[in-house]
Amino acid sequence: MKLLAPLSSSSSSSSSSSALKKPHRQLSQYLFSLLAFIVFVTILYSEDFLCIFRQQQQQQQLKLESADSDRVLSRPGEAEIVWDKKEVNIVEEKEEEKWKIPFAVGESEESCDIFSGRWVWDESRPLYEESDCSYIQSQLTCMEHGRPDKNFRNWRWQPHRCQLPKFNASLVLESLRGKRMMFVGDSLNRGQFQSMVCLVQSLIPPHAKSMQTFGSLIVFTAKEYNATIEFYWAPFLLESNTDNAIVHKFNERIVRKGSINKHGNHWKNTDILVFNTYLWWMTGYKMNISRKPFDDKIKDIIELSTDDAYRMAMKSMLRWVRRNMDPKKTRVFFTSMSPIHDKSIGWGGKAGGNCYNETKIIEDPNYWGSDRRSILKVSGDVLSKSKYPITFLNITQLSSYRKDAHTSIYKKQWNPLTPHQLANPISYADCVHWCLPGLQDTWNELLFAKLFYPSSASS
Ligand SMILES: *[C@@H]1O[C@H](CO)[C@@H](O)[C@H](O)[C@H]1NC(C)=O
Ligand SMILES: *[C@@H]1O[C@H](CO)[C@@H](O)[C@H](O)[C@H]1NC(C)=O
Ligand SMILES: *[C@@H]1O[C@H](CO)[C@@H](O)[C@H](O)[C@H]1NC(C)=O
Ligand SMILES: *[C@@H]1O[C@H](CO)[C@@H](O)[C@H](O)[C@H]1NC(C)=O
Ligand SMILES: *[C@@H]1O[C@H](CO)[C@@H](O)[C@H](O)[C@H]1NC(C)=O
Repeated sequence: MKLLAPLSSSSSSSSSSSALKKPHRQLSQYLFSLLAFIVFVTILYSEDFLCIFRQQQQQQQLKLESADSDRVLSRPGEAEIVWDKKEVNIVEEKEEEKWKIPFAVGESEESCDIFSGRWVWDESRPLYEESDCSYIQSQLTCMEHGRPDKNFRNWRWQPHRCQLPKFNASLVLESLRGKRMMFVGDSLNRGQFQSMVCLVQSLIPPHAKSMQTFGSLIVFTAKEYNATIEFYWAPFLLESNTDNAIVHKFNERIVRKGSINKHGNHWKNTDILVFNTYLWWMTGYKMNISRKPFDDKIKDIIELSTDDAYRMAMKSMLRWVRRNMDPKKTRVFFTSMSPIHDKSIGWGGKAGGNCYNETKIIEDPNYWGSDRRSILKVSGDVLSKSKYPITFLNITQLSSYRKDAHTSIYKKQWNPLTPHQLANPISYADCVHWCLPGLQDTWNELLFAKLFYPSSASS
């Protein structure tokens, strides 16, 4: 089943058009026209009824899904289109209605899984210099903060069965003319957003670009293209008590069920949406979920397993996308979990170590660290049942080989380091985030590949 299957026009419209052409001998020309007009109006209205009927069906389905029913309501990968009355052709052609996948300029080979591959050394990298991109936040500028080794910037991802298309910044900007690309999620997605900005910004002269922050939203504007690349902070996607983009160091995290519109209202009218969510769910094996608004006097908080809570959020996201996005206009991506490297025994290192002082990639293709496999499975499962075509950016495995690519101690520290910490760098190394330029440029090369060369099988 192709993800974006062409629509066949409704059979009622073609049979009705032949009815229109049938002459009635008994009637005068005038009466015939009148009758034809009535028939025409009837058909119009019946199309309306069809439309309403379809919408009702759809709403019913949504209701079923909101009840968090685990029943599969659609076949995997099936695209659902809300019919637009204007597109129902009353003229007699029976031609299948086709629509182009937005942003596609070509198709990839269906047999090629670009997320399955290996890292190869490439002298021509990095794709840009840290010092040439002023849009990287100081938590990710490793060179500026004294990182001594540079090799981590030279690895290129090589899929086993095909070549990745070369990242073309000009194509990205041209395609974004008059459009908005938005990343939504946590600090990992913010890193990917900054990487994307860095990958395209050198083509824009200084006076024609800017970056501004509006609360939870960061907007990079390419003025001459009337294009924006944006980041919206929503670490759980749903509303939570940790939503402040700056002050969010709460230990007792609570997520509110069914609250996606709170943030979702800021994601509308975008043309490319890239979601992620993972790290903030990792508080343990359980998560507190509020079934009432946070300001409600009566508290109704339940503990769910992390997997169930995460599944709930994924489903909320899908539902939001289906209700608010048009697959003929907007491409939606979901970036899988970003792995951490906090236990070096996992890759045969010394006990007690982490990513600190790691300068080599992991060569074992079967390596998997301490990350929760079940979460990757939940996101894969939920997305494979999506009716809206959402492209899964499965970056987890390929990133797990990159213990060398984290910011480690080479970043701006929020708080001054204590002598005790300084004496033991492992204790404060950041093995979650990634240096830029670096690994996350590859995530964007994969995004680029999927955006412009989608395979109809996996979109
Ligand atoms: C990059 O994209 C631009 C704009 O679409 C196109 O003119 C150019 O040929 C592309 N460059 C390469 C190397 O494909
Ligand atoms: C600029 O882009 C926005 C969408 O991001 C669009 O609504 C607006 O009409 C565009 N303006 C011009 C002058 O093209
Ligand atoms: C949920 O909240 C209760 C009450 O505040 C707390 O005792 C418990 O540790 C919390 N559970 C999680 C998983 O955060
Ligand atoms: C860092 O690694 C190198 C070799 O890879 C080793 O010689 C050095 O002692 C390590 N430094 C620390 C502080 O662990
Ligand atoms: C993600 O990619 C890895 C490596 O190719 C694969 O083993 C895994 O099954 C994929 N996961 C999902 C959910 O597609």
